[in-house]
Amino acid sequence: MTALLAPSILSADFGRLAEEVREAEAGGAGAIHVDVMDGHFVPNLTVGPAVASAVHRATKLPVDCHLMIEEPDRYLEAFARAGSAMISVHVETARHLHRTVQAIRDLGARPGVALNPATPLSSLDEILPFADFVLIMTVNPGFGGQAFIPAALRKIRDLKERIRAAGLTTLIEVDGGVTLLNLDDVVEAGADLIVAGNAVFAGGSTRENTHNMAARLAALAQHGAGR
Ligand code: DX5
Ligand code: ZN
Repeated sequence: MTALLAPSILSADFGRLAEEVREAEAGGAGAIHVDVMDGHFVPNLTVGPAVASAVHRATKLPVDCHLMIEEPDRYLEAFARAGSAMISVHVETARHLHRTVQAIRDLGARPGVALNPATPLSSLDEILPFADFVLIMTVNPGFGGQAFIPAALRKIRDLKERIRAAGLTTLIEVDGGVTLLNLDDVVEAGADLIVAGNAVFAGGSTRENTHNMAARLAALAQHGAGR
């Protein structure tokens, strides 16, 4: 299966957001990643449901909302109503994660659970069968343009093995510091959905940057990369 690219709008030009999203769609993106940050769980403050809704109106692609916020239950309905196709919450923030995952699904979105770099895979033991995807942070959350944490590749490989051993179809989303230079390694490790912010939006043509990464993902799939 070809891994999909989910450009993160965090690095986009917010003065031309709809245009940037359309350029990413034209370049072959598979989803649009919206990084929601509250300034508490992570040291940055970004966007809310209104921007997720604007992105949803600007594209036919699935909107993938990554909630880096404390007490995410408070906003699930708002992000679902905004048109989010995928909503991920951090295991580090959800006190009743099983209920939260069920609530996201009941709202009509695909539920994902996100792990910070230092959070072990064992935190997924009881929730893995209930989530549609796992988001593996490969940078410390809060900002775009950070360096990829190489140790996370083993974590991705281990997670792929756990999913396979459990006979599950859970997808792996990899988020942070991914560029054309490490894309092959990330796919080889087992990524199904790849977030890229700076690599897509922070220089040159958004459409071309997206196309180049999406084309590489297609080529990797053709040559049987991925696990
Ligand atoms: C970081 C966000 C990531 C980030 C990705 O907290 O979750 O989605 O925006 O951006 P790059 O690809 O620039 O690391
Ligand atoms: Zn993200």
